Amino acid sequence: MCGIVGYIGNSKASEVLLKGLSYLEYRGYDSSGVALMAKNKIEIFKAPGKLNNLRDVLSSVQDICNKSTCGIGHIRWATHGLPTELNAHPHTCNCGSLVVVHNGIIENYKELKAELEKCGCEFKSQTDSEVAAHLIAHEFSKCKDLLKAMTSAVKKINGAYAFCAMHRTLPDRIIVARKNAPLIIGVGEGENFIASDIPAIIEYTKKAIYLNDNQVAEVKKDSIKITDLNGKILENKVEMLPFEPVALSKMGYKHYMLKEIHEQSDVARNVLSGKLKDSKSQITLQDVKLSENEIKNIKRIQIIACGTSLHAGLVGKYILEKFAKIPTDVEASSEYIYRDTIADNNTLVIGISQSGETADTITAIKQVKEKGSHVVIITNRPDSTMARLADSLLPVNAGIEVSVAATKSYMAQLLSLYLLTMFITQKINPETIKDKEIISLKQELLELPNKIETVTNDTEKIKAVAKKYSSFKDFIFIARGINYPTSLEGALKLKEISYINATGYSAGELKHGPIAMLDETMPVLAILNKGLVYDKVMSNCEEAKARQAKLIGVSNFIDKKHKDLFDDVLLIPDISDTLSPALNIVVLQLLAYYIAEYLGKDVDQPRNLAKSVTVE
Ligand code: F6R
Repeated sequence: MCGIVGYIGNSKASEVLLKGLSYLEYRGYDSSGVALMAKNKIEIFKAPGKLNNLRDVLSSVQDICNKSTCGIGHIRWATHGLPTELNAHPHTCNCGSLVVVHNGIIENYKELKAELEKCGCEFKSQTDSEVAAHLIAHEFSKCKDLLKAMTSAVKKINGAYAFCAMHRTLPDRIIVARKNAPLIIGVGEGENFIASDIPAIIEYTKKAIYLNDNQVAEVKKDSIKITDLNGKILENKVEMLPFEPVALSKMGYKHYMLKEIHEQSDVARNVLSGKLKDSKSQITLQDVKLSENEIKNIKRIQIIACGTSLHAGLVGKYILEKFAKIPTDVEASSEYIYRDTIADNNTLVIGISQSGETADTITAIKQVKEKGSHVVIITNRPDSTMARLADSLLPVNAGIEVSVAATKSYMAQLLSLYLLTMFITQKINPETIKDKEIISLKQELLELPNKIETVTNDTEKIKAVAKKYSSFKDFIFIARGINYPTSLEGALKLKEISYINATGYSAGELKHGPIAMLDETMPVLAILNKGLVYDKVMSNCEEAKARQAKLIGVSNFIDKKHKDLFDDVLLIPDISDTLSPALNIVVLQLLAYYIAEYLGKDVDQPRNLAKSVTVE
């Protein structure tokens, strides 16, 4: 949440900052701003709304932009205060000499604000972040050393932060600090960069220093000094960044989301490549550092994640319990962290996160590590904070996902969970390599990319259904068994990008309450896979039909009963119940996409959301 960029060197700071912020738009996009070091003063420019508004503001002050070679920038996802120009960062102290941008939440901002007001500080915004500007300035007035002032200030702050600050009287430096929010320092030749994430600076440098929690740094154009909170000088290593400069392109698709949905067949090939050779071979997961003995000692598994990643985890529970026979709990990280959870060194914890930076999941992972559990992280960002905390890493290699609504990363997480399940199962009992169901699942996994292509290559029926139902205000998605999480994920996709009220529900639970809402105004989408629960779901659909609900089915086979019962059926290629979540979800993603697109919504950047949720 929120993106930070900083630059000090010989180039035009405004250009570096704007470009950097454009690569951080996935972190928030409700307002933005920059502070540029000018002669004897700091100039601040802000704009509410998308980054283009700031671009317009800066284009009208070219004389200032042409001269400034040092500055800091911010793109905001509002936590405290509306997304207005006043609340946009950078924030300043009373006299405007000190500016700061902040990512995170200052939990004790009210107490700090009250104290600072007593000292004469006047607050202009409703943000928690403005406290930092006044506090650092207050500390600076005592010591006239910006690094020391930042250090003293962060010692008084509770919460999460990445800060970037400048002072008018010290035009040769930017001071940064970090705790529980990502921040990297890009190392250049005669210039240095600061950013919340790699894409913002990768075009300029491939070398960076990862700032750790409770570290502060003074960044000048040809030097970087890092200290701990006691002022001790530290030597963080310079690392090579794992990305090539990203040429972000929609490749002819109208939206990134549509492109990313279509990329899923290749993502599936990537995930399986090198790990699953053929249906009779063992699964190879090089970075899973669990010995056979350790795996045999696992008494329980806990999967911790949020949002879409949590839904992938729910599918994981079904397969882990089915094949590995280990009791598995799945829990939203935000619920996991504030109760007495039971985990020990016989608990395997699987953290799932596209970004690897989700604050709730990071906190949960830190807690279980203290209890001695082995932590496997499934992430699309092997360079992330979570990956750095992992005992074992399963990078999913889905490629950078730009659209805020997760699609291809979900596919990659799902398939990684299938691989991990079979890996654990084969370690517990090597004989399962001959198990018919496992052989057949492996074979199906190998065939999956082509089946995904069959769905994405023929979207006419999905488009037609999307158009037909786009005017409905409420939806309910139902399924049972392993596709229950698919119903949750399908409903989440629809509400995120179309703002239609969509709920995922276990089909069997419908009659225990939600059926009260059903009538002709609330369509029911049911997942109808051939298998154990098919007849049960069909009965639940009959019950919905009897309340005059419109019914849409997603099915992997043609049943003559469908014609009488359903208003529309979307067919997918035949697939086992066990692997069907990986194919059903593609239909639901496309349906959500086309409904949102039909309604003219901002598909890639839906309102109120951000791709990386770095606040609890
Ligand atoms: C939905 C979506 C979110 C994320 C959630 C967790 O499309 O993207 O629900 O899944 O914020 O994020 P990660 O996976 O980065 O931990």
